[in-house]
Amino acid sequence: MPETTPAIIFAELAARRAALLARSVPDLFASDPERFERFHAGLDDLLYDFSKQRLDADAFAVLLRLAEAANVAAKRDAMFRGELVNTTERRAALHSALRNFSGEPVLVEGADVMPEVEAVRAKMLEFATDIREGRVRGALGQPMTDVVNIGIGGSDLGPAMAARALAPFGQANLRAHFVSNVDGADIADTLRGLDPARTLFIISSKTFTTQETMTNAQSARAWIVAALGEGAVPDHFAAVSTQLDKVAAFGVDHDRVFGFWDWVGGRYSIWSSIGLPLAIAVGAEAYLEFQRGGYEVDRHFREAPPERNIPLLMGLVSVWNRNLLGYASQAVIPYDQRLGRFPAYLQQLQMESNGKSVRRDGAPVERASGAIVWGEPGTNGQHAFFQLLHQGTEISPIDFLVAAVPTNADAHHHDLLVANCFAQGEALMRGRSRNEAEAITLKQGASAAEAARLAPHKSFSGSRPTSTLLYRQLDPKTLGRLIALYEHKVFVEAAIWDINPFDQWGVELGKELASRLAPIVADGQADLSALDRSTAGLIAHMRTLRG
Ligand code: F6P
Repeated sequence: MPETTPAIIFAELAARRAALLARSVPDLFASDPERFERFHAGLDDLLYDFSKQRLDADAFAVLLRLAEAANVAAKRDAMFRGELVNTTERRAALHSALRNFSGEPVLVEGADVMPEVEAVRAKMLEFATDIREGRVRGALGQPMTDVVNIGIGGSDLGPAMAARALAPFGQANLRAHFVSNVDGADIADTLRGLDPARTLFIISSKTFTTQETMTNAQSARAWIVAALGEGAVPDHFAAVSTQLDKVAAFGVDHDRVFGFWDWVGGRYSIWSSIGLPLAIAVGAEAYLEFQRGGYEVDRHFREAPPERNIPLLMGLVSVWNRNLLGYASQAVIPYDQRLGRFPAYLQQLQMESNGKSVRRDGAPVERASGAIVWGEPGTNGQHAFFQLLHQGTEISPIDFLVAAVPTNADAHHHDLLVANCFAQGEALMRGRSRNEAEAITLKQGASAAEAARLAPHKSFSGSRPTSTLLYRQLDPKTLGRLIALYEHKVFVEAAIWDINPFDQWGVELGKELASRLAPIVADGQADLSALDRSTAGLIAHMRTLRG
């Protein structure tokens, strides 16, 4: 038998594509009474329904063979084993070790990392508890009421998203704030109204060199010094970083520095001490529940059979939509106001991981890689961009996320929320033919001519692909599960495309050029002749505007 390769399986999938597209999804449901059974998977209370995707049983079977041909399981095991899967940086990718409750060791280059992981977590949770219980006090002896995290990218999005998602588990007398942008408006607007004597800053930066974070940290330091004096700095700052020497140089007290390791990627670092603001917001117990949710998904990803393995299925559906159906974007629409930052979080997770044009060996990728991820909570999106999703010429597959039970919210509101979520999935799948549209308009009293005129405008193609993640409640454990599901989904895509999802060289060039331009922008007299004509023209005009 010839060797099966992903390329051979992609060709097989491509051969099935036209026949599948000739059939509507409602038709696929009509001809397969088992369709929902076949195309959903569960993990305790959490259900992943992908039966509204443009797939049939045959194509699904071939997709499962694609996972085999791409060695997804072997690559997954190598990641969990701590192999140096981040090949360009020669690092392991072991965010799973941070939420490993198995009691088993995790080895990186022969050394068990678990004792250190557990020690840092214990120290961090103790600090979080001390803040919550008023034992951490400012220079004037007052307990902290406001915690400001200063970080960007993975050192911001995770804790900011999660603190908002789990707001009902927070403590009324303690507020979490997040400053990320180098735009001075961000820190200025955040600090306005805060009392320096009761404010604790956490500087979160894996490298402790990121321009935005260091600039904001210096401004925060100046704010504390102006109000309370230089001596107050150790009382009002903590830091999270892998670069302990740089943190010490900034003046953060050794007891308030929480380390992590180079084998934790920025966008996977919510599980490390980067999660400190979340632990402060929700408390140690809820934070551990959050981590247990991630661990549960790790076990599921490693143990569940392929046809019931949710991250594997999410990854395969995504590859099908991207490579076979050619959809360039992926919408994530949480029907959950508190998951308002989840799409932004997933943007970094997915686009920084799989926005690559070369394979692990440096050769060009053989097919389109990561889709553009975007989204906003429902129902708000319905009154904004859903028009395009229903009737536009671009098709964007959607993931809906929704809880069966509200957290601290009215049950009637929640019934309406859930009904809207399910209705959108149904409408996008079902569509409405021209005849149906015409009949409805006639029934509403329009003339035959008017009904015919409006029919093209009021009809919907349908068969627009959506998946739904439905869970009992948005609690810490569920949030942990959701994040880990998407992490592994991204991993599955990368395994199939044979790319390294753990590096991010694409952000470097912009950083370099910004550093080069910063002094030129600041100095009204600097020579512009070495710059390209457009950049020079913009700077010249900016100088005019600044007078
Ligand atoms: O923008 C690139 C990036 O390196 C992200 O991957 C990372 O999450 C972010 O910057 C922040 O980096 P750091 O935690 O080192 O400040």
